[in-house]
Amino acid sequence: MCGIVGYIGGEQAAPILLDGLAKLEYRGYDSAGIAVYNGEEIRMVKSMGRLKVLNELTHDGATLPGTAGIGHTRWATHGAPSDTNAHPHFNETGSIVVVHNGIIENYQKLKQKLIRRGYEFRSETDTEVVAHLLDYYYKGNPLEAITRMMHQVEGSYAFGIMFQDHPGEIYAVRKDSPLIVGHAEKGSLIASDVPAVLKYTRSVYFIENEEIVRLTQDEMVFYNIDEEEIDKEPVTIEWDVNAAEKGGYEHFMLKEMYEQPKVVRDTFSPRLKNGDVVIEELGMSDEEIREVRKLYIVACGSAYHTGMTCKYVFEGLARIPVEVDLASEFRYRNPILDEHTLVIIVSQSGETADSLAALREVKKRGVRVLGIVNVVGSSIAREADNVMYTWAGPEIAVATTKAYSTQLIAQYLLALKFAKVRGTISDVEFAGMLEDMERLPEQMEMLLSNKERVQRFANRYLAARDVFFIGRGIDYAISMESSLKLKEISYIHSEAYAAGELKHGTISLIEEGTLVAAVLTQEDLFKKTISNMLEVKTRGACVLAVTQVGNTEVEKAADYVIYIPKTNRYFTNSLAIIPLQLFAYYVSIGKGCDVDKPRNLAKSVTVE
Ligand code: F6R
Repeated sequence: MCGIVGYIGGEQAAPILLDGLAKLEYRGYDSAGIAVYNGEEIRMVKSMGRLKVLNELTHDGATLPGTAGIGHTRWATHGAPSDTNAHPHFNETGSIVVVHNGIIENYQKLKQKLIRRGYEFRSETDTEVVAHLLDYYYKGNPLEAITRMMHQVEGSYAFGIMFQDHPGEIYAVRKDSPLIVGHAEKGSLIASDVPAVLKYTRSVYFIENEEIVRLTQDEMVFYNIDEEEIDKEPVTIEWDVNAAEKGGYEHFMLKEMYEQPKVVRDTFSPRLKNGDVVIEELGMSDEEIREVRKLYIVACGSAYHTGMTCKYVFEGLARIPVEVDLASEFRYRNPILDEHTLVIIVSQSGETADSLAALREVKKRGVRVLGIVNVVGSSIAREADNVMYTWAGPEIAVATTKAYSTQLIAQYLLALKFAKVRGTISDVEFAGMLEDMERLPEQMEMLLSNKERVQRFANRYLAARDVFFIGRGIDYAISMESSLKLKEISYIHSEAYAAGELKHGTISLIEEGTLVAAVLTQEDLFKKTISNMLEVKTRGACVLAVTQVGNTEVEKAADYVIYIPKTNRYFTNSLAIIPLQLFAYYVSIGKGCDVDKPRNLAKSVTVE
């Protein structure tokens, strides 16, 4: 996730900006830049790579004198990582400069309008649109230009902005991306997150949606979008620097689980337009979509589990046969591919060696590959014919949670698109599913707010030796992911089974007290799975059930029940996974494991 810093005061700005950016490094970035106002002009240095490069280029800030400036670490979204796409971004004359965190959803439309008005673009970013838009609206009053710009842009943003003919001022504004400001002895600061300012002040203001702040050396004035001055109360930060990096959460994994409602919304919202699913980056005409006769979803680990779920979604909605394959198997099994096949490679990092090799194998055969990728400009993103990005932001905990959730959403969107084009879904069902999708973030929040209940249950199983997860259909896929989450971070042996398979061998492993977690989200299969729960319960298992609200019948076969809100049958994974992620997390920390960095694991598996 991009990081923003800004400073205006009595000291040299550049070293303070560089120091602040270093404190935001944990957010992940691929390039960095700073712009400093020296009283006459705004000068900028930016570069791809680590902050070290920026430090070297500016001689630790010494080559950019001046007491006001803004800085940025970029995690690419629109446009690959490059010097040009790095922030800050100027208007054409260099008199307005902007740094941005977030996504401008309607940037293409705005860009076309600005091009028609004669503006020339240097980068591929959505941010540059804002620099030119501010230029277009600027008639000498920065506040007016900013509010007019805010009325035009859709999406999420936090901006730091400087205007050359307003020396001694920095502006900051936000909507759905974090931004704080603080006042210190040495001057005023803005930042995406608390760690960047902690060295200077513990008293900060959290900027709320559509609020604007004008910072000078001595004061900070807050405005609403109607340009009216508003009062705000500062908050005193008690966290130490370590906790501050995690937004006050104990671990990155917990923080990332809590980010799920937001990133899920970020992933679907730009693609839902006027009651339709619009995936411009798919690069396939309706005719081409109709011609697809077979889908392969190829991935590793959790990404593979999203494919297991979405097989049911694609087959159910779009009536296309789907094979889901582990990339490490697919690449060596000489799969049957032809011009009517579409291969979807799902990967958070975009660098997983097996997934990349599978992609290359498919391309060698001249078959179309779509990448569903989180890291912009990664190898899979570059080499796939088309790429659909998940907007999860950088994921730092090794065990994936938020990227997993966005991979599901991207595939739901694709399945809906395919179903609509192929005429396999009614208009009523399609509209209902879009409404259900829009409700998911709120429902996820509700489940996250019940974390203490899950924690109490998890604490009873810290000494468990084996844990089994069972379910049917999509619930089997959820079980696979839940089992992987538990074993990778708690080191407890765990397996997932299709519930109907238990009696074919596995049930002999059940003994007094063995924990079996049953997932029941598919109404037509409730009764079947309840029978399987009774089979293990009578053999001494303790049964946890995760099921849809209203399915009280499950209580006769379960010792403990977690209810999830009602949603469309194809979207249940997005909700059921939340308590099961929390369960794995609390077992892991209860056992004292290093939850963010489990032993023997790496975030990105770039070797075979
Ligand atoms: C598990 C986990 C891994 C990854 C897998 C694929 O929590 O994170 O199983 O899902 O290594 O990684 P990507 O998605 O980067 O290809």
